[in-house]
This record gives sequence, structure tokens and C-alpha cells, in this order.
Amino acid sequence: MTDEVEQEVSTGSLPVWDQVERLAQEAHARARGHDEGVVADYIPVLAEADPSLFGVCVAEARGGPVHAVGDAAVEFSVQSISKAFVYALVCEEHGHEMVRDRVGVNNTGLSFNSVIAVELNDGHPMNPMVNAGALATTALVPGASSAERWEHVRTGLSRFAGRRLELDGVVYRSESATNTRNKAIARLLQSYGRIDLDPLEVVDVYTRQCALRVSARDLAVMGATLADGGVNPVTGERVVSGQVCRDTLAVLAATGMYERSGEWLFEIGLPAKSGVSGGIVAIAPGKGAIGTFSPRVDPAGNSVRGRLATAYLSRALGLNVFASSAQPSVQRGADASGRRA
Ligand code: DON
Repeated sequence: MTDEVEQEVSTGSLPVWDQVERLAQEAHARARGHDEGVVADYIPVLAEADPSLFGVCVAEARGGPVHAVGDAAVEFSVQSISKAFVYALVCEEHGHEMVRDRVGVNNTGLSFNSVIAVELNDGHPMNPMVNAGALATTALVPGASSAERWEHVRTGLSRFAGRRLELDGVVYRSESATNTRNKAIARLLQSYGRIDLDPLEVVDVYTRQCALRVSARDLAVMGATLADGGVNPVTGERVVSGQVCRDTLAVLAATGMYERSGEWLFEIGLPAKSGVSGGIVAIAPGKGAIGTFSPRVDPAGNSVRGRLATAYLSRALGLNVFASSAQPSVQRGADASGRRA
């Protein structure tokens, strides 16, 4: 890692500002009629979310105003999307090898709250984007107390967003009262020597990080910071290194959409992370990021409208990281996923 050359620009560039603006509006219009999926309710207060909400936002890595459509300013709890950004903060602190060895970088192929995945891997969490791996990651956040660790997380995620993020106390209390499974996972990790701290304190910091309030706009700016090699394109502040961004995006590509990660990469071709409250952030290295919010999620916990809008934008903006040239804009008659009818 000492001999690396800082090269943070991917192939191609985004279309001109007006065209991105028009395509963001088109993505919203195409996906908003879809009512598939259900609002998550295993954290009781999430069931109260308005299923009609739908926001789309594109933030460009080159900076400038964001492209915000619909309910892009509506706040919701970030939930699992926090895992990506806490992972980046922990990589920044401890480095590539330590985090890879301690937490892992592979997809478990099992649901995000799986206990058996831990057992099957002799207590190794394997994947930092599922609950076991995220708890092991949060246990590596620097700080002498859980209050300090929580402040490190809140400050770090706020720097990614370019504004101070606040805790949603109602969501935090609702999840704290019902997260027996996460407490069990943390104790299981402790039994395997994977968590050095008090497991319940780790769960508490993790539950707080999941309850931070963000909007689709925040997600786009947070993602654009990863796309921009660690520099927030709105504030100009360096949050993490370019190396950490590459590590984080590689992990997101492999694991960010749970057991649907392969399908997501095959169809959409972007590293991304979803949360059960309905957010998705998808990152186009060197170009920018898409933040979406719509509360109806599929069985894997990924927002249905968010997936459709992101699929459309990936094709229309030519973002697929596996494409060697920009794709033509989506044709008339294509469905919301961008496929020709
Ligand atoms: O730990 C949990 O279960 C939640 N705080 C986060 C889960 C989540 O967002 C999964 N997403 N699809």
C-alpha cells in the first residue's frame, strides 16, 4: 500500500448537468408507479413509514448542485447503509489487512441477520455488510468508551454527508427494545473471541448508527464522497483515503445487496448498499452516486422503487463499472429497469 499511485478517476464522465437532471426526473417518473414490496416491520416503528414516499438524488463527484427529485429531502433512519460508511471509517483507522482478516470481505449468501452464517464459518463474521460483520466492525471503532465510539461514528458519517446527522431517538428506542437477535449475534461473536468489548455496548453503538437520520440527498453526497476518492464533493473535505474508498467499494460490490448482490451487479453493475428502511446508495467511481428512498422493500430487504430507479440511471447515464464504453441512453419503450419492452 505504500507504493500505490493515487488514481481515482474511472472511465468516462457523466453527461452534462442538464441531461443528468432530466434523466433523474425520468428515473423517478418510471419507478414511482411500482407498488410491489412491503414496508419492513420487524423494527416496530419502521412499519409507520409512508409507503408512497419516493425520492431520487444524483450527486456528481465533480461537485456542483445535486439532482434531487420527489421526496429526496425526506429523512429516514439510515439502517444498514451505515455499515458501508462505518466500514470505511474503520478501514481508515486500522488499514486494509487488519480489517480484511478480522471481519472478512466475502458474501455469506445468507440473510443479513443470519446466526447460522457465523456458526458455519467457525465464528468468523465473513461479511462486514451483514449484521454479524457490522457488529465486528463497529467493535473496531476507535474510542475509550462507547460514548466516544458513538461520537466517532456520528462525526464520521456527518463528514460523509457534509452536514451534522442526528439520531432518531424513536427508531433507536424501538430497535433497542426488540433487537434480541443482534444481541445474540454479538454474544456469539464474543464466544468466538471476535469481539473484545462488552457485546451489548457494541450493539448499542451499532443500533445508534443505524438510527441516524438521512435523506436520499444525504445518501447521494455520502456515496459521491466514496466516488470522489474520499473527498466530499460538496464540502471539499477529505473524509477517508482513496485506498479506503477502493476497499469499501469492492466490499459493496460483493456484499452490499445481501444475497441479491450477484444479481444486482449483473443487472446494474454498481457497488451499492441498501437499508431495510428503504434507502439505497449506488456509487459510480470517479463519476458520482445515486441515493434513493422508498420504503417498500423486497424479501432481501432492498427497496423496490430504489432498485428500479437505480437500474434505469445506471443504464441511461452509462455507469455500469463493467462497461468499457458509455451505454446509449435508454430508448423509449424500455421498462423501469431500463430493458427494452
Ligand atoms: O440490525 C438491523 O437489523 C437493522 N438495524 C438494520 C438492518 C438492515 O437495514 C437490513 N437491510 N436491508
